[in-house]
Amino acid sequence: MKKTAHIILLTSFVFLISCNSIKTNKASIIDQKVDSVLNLMTLEEKIGQMVLYTSDWDVTGPTLKSGYMDDIRKGHCGNIFNAHTAAYVRKLQKIAVEESRLGIPLLFGYDVIHGHKTIFPISLGESASWDMEAIEKGARVAAIEAAASGINWTFAPMCDISVEPRWGRVSEGAGEDPFLGSKIAAARVRGFQGKDNNLADPLTILACVKHFAAYGAPQAGRDYNTVDMSKRVFLETYLPPYKAALDAGAMSVMTSFNELDGVPATGSRYLLSDLLRGELGFKGLVVTDYTSINEMVNHGVVANEAEAGLLAVKAGVDMDMQGEVYFKYLKKQVDDGLVDEKLIDEALRRVLKVKFLLGLFDDPYRYCNEVREKQLVYAPEHLEAALDVAKKSMVLLKNQDQVLPLKKGEKIAVIGELAASTRDLLGSWKAAGDWDFMKSTLDELKAYNGEANVIYAEGCKTIGEDRSGFAAAMAAAGRAQKIVLVIGENWEWSGEAASRTSIDIPGVQTELLEKLKTLNKPIVVVLMNGRPLDLTRENELADAMLETWYAGTMGGKAITQVLFGEYNPSGKLTMTFPRNLGQVPIFYYEKNTGRPIYLPNDKYKSKYIDSPNDPLFPFGFGLSYTTFEYSDITLSSTELTDNEGLTAQVTVKNTGKYDGEEVVQLYVRDLVGSVTRPVKELKGFEKVMIKAGESKEIKFKLTSDMLAFYRLDMTYGTEPGDYKLFIGGNSKDVKEKGFKLK
Ligand code: NOJ
Repeated sequence: MKKTAHIILLTSFVFLISCNSIKTNKASIIDQKVDSVLNLMTLEEKIGQMVLYTSDWDVTGPTLKSGYMDDIRKGHCGNIFNAHTAAYVRKLQKIAVEESRLGIPLLFGYDVIHGHKTIFPISLGESASWDMEAIEKGARVAAIEAAASGINWTFAPMCDISVEPRWGRVSEGAGEDPFLGSKIAAARVRGFQGKDNNLADPLTILACVKHFAAYGAPQAGRDYNTVDMSKRVFLETYLPPYKAALDAGAMSVMTSFNELDGVPATGSRYLLSDLLRGELGFKGLVVTDYTSINEMVNHGVVANEAEAGLLAVKAGVDMDMQGEVYFKYLKKQVDDGLVDEKLIDEALRRVLKVKFLLGLFDDPYRYCNEVREKQLVYAPEHLEAALDVAKKSMVLLKNQDQVLPLKKGEKIAVIGELAASTRDLLGSWKAAGDWDFMKSTLDELKAYNGEANVIYAEGCKTIGEDRSGFAAAMAAAGRAQKIVLVIGENWEWSGEAASRTSIDIPGVQTELLEKLKTLNKPIVVVLMNGRPLDLTRENELADAMLETWYAGTMGGKAITQVLFGEYNPSGKLTMTFPRNLGQVPIFYYEKNTGRPIYLPNDKYKSKYIDSPNDPLFPFGFGLSYTTFEYSDITLSSTELTDNEGLTAQVTVKNTGKYDGEEVVQLYVRDLVGSVTRPVKELKGFEKVMIKAGESKEIKFKLTSDMLAFYRLDMTYGTEPGDYKLFIGGNSKDVKEKGFKLK
């Protein structure tokens, strides 16, 4: 019986293909293949293809569905996530292909966020590299290793803009800026799906744009909380990175847990049908986030799960992740006439289409080659790439009296629980990353500087009140020339479901820093964390501060190389670091308000009475071991016309002793609009290497389309008038020039 079904299936493909003229394009051949499969399917089997269950290999949500192998066998489940390794995937795929009636291959999804086995820095860290090539490479390596381990679908890139450091998931994104976020989203899609989006290449995987939409703005920074923003802010600030990822060819989208304007995203016809499929022209598949159909009952927009399923399918959701709602209710709803089977067919077509694009019908085991897996996982060039991005992602926040770089052979006291940890270097969403494989920062420091020159004491844990290790830490520090204190958040303090009401360094770590300070020795604070922190006190005490995020498999080596000047830090913050939590939300593209702080009166203006307005470290900020000097800006014209555009040029001089890279940033401000406009908006950047003593000319081309926005009547376009243009090494310290848009 099963064999017969296979034969029918194959024959129908061959028949259809041979019926096509040679001129028929690939897309329509795939559509025809999809229909040929669809025509063989029962309603129950169709719904099975709209189901995604987790395997029990990894837990990324609250419930586990048992018996998924049997569901695959019965054609009740067409897609699996959290299963990996070529061998295990083969085992499950075999059930689908050989034991289910139609033998339709499974999709295998996994959260390959910043690497699969070779783990790269967390995404927020990678974004601080401002290096699109390196970021694309990171995603490429992740795709190669994941594909070699049986995966054909990653739940990435996360494209959620956020200005909310309390939210633990800022670690997974690209920061606060829509322009930079869009470039990074596109780079990641290119990395996962390959430059030419050839999903049939067995070393590419399907990307998934998430979380659609506006998941990065939960009220009070509490994960899964309500999102409420104006349509203008949504379209202008939050939508661009999702759109950029789609424009780059991403073929799947994940809905978000949150509501937007009172409607949960998973049931939002506006988001999924009107905007995503309509205006944005998306042709791929839409999957929910983990049980987010079911959660619409808790949201209070439906009375029960059956109604939730109806809402989701009518809104445009093709696949139910883990919720079992489609499987339990959809068939009866179609039989009862509540859902048109055509809607099911449309969803199914999108699911089958990606399976065809991935080449799974040609060879369901194309991702299951154990020999290839062995060769590619942890390949030396992958580790090299991870080391490269890790170094580029680090941000030097302070370096008083050139305490850094350290000199080889100087005696250092290394203090802190995080210094000796490998697990923490991987951060959250470590995929299949293995911390037993890697070395800690302490190991690497010893290897570089010599065991005898590195004295270690834990001092304290990252959390808790235990001060019993302080004395040993003081003793270790007493014997050293310089102190390297590695502090921050342990890996569980960032990522999903890791929101905080404080953004201080937790536990008694800062107290330990205060104690160490009494020794009057230079202190280098090495930070590991997944969000902007309030570093005001640490900034007062430390001589140098290096933000290293969670730097991945090669993190320990990267930190060592940066500390010892083997690499000159070049990272720049992609989220503003506030002075205190009270300033949050704080971001560089704020509005001027009617009572800006620079007004001469003392009281009645937009300010705090207990804190400055400006942040501790602005967006785009990051130091180098060298220094850069910016010339004044030269404009090709003071008028920008549609045809000509305008070129802005600066000369950047490396005035220090080290060769170094600088991220030169271009911002603009529209001075008068039909609606208020941000005080600055990033419109361009270039990362350049400048040798010590040398200068480079940097040119930016500005065209009128780059100045478009949602005008008062919500049309998207420009308005003539006066603008300011800024160029600098961060969003605060800039040169400026005025121009007119004609
Ligand atoms: C829930 C998370 O929100 C999402 O990002 C992830 O992809 C899924 N779980 C699957 O693990």
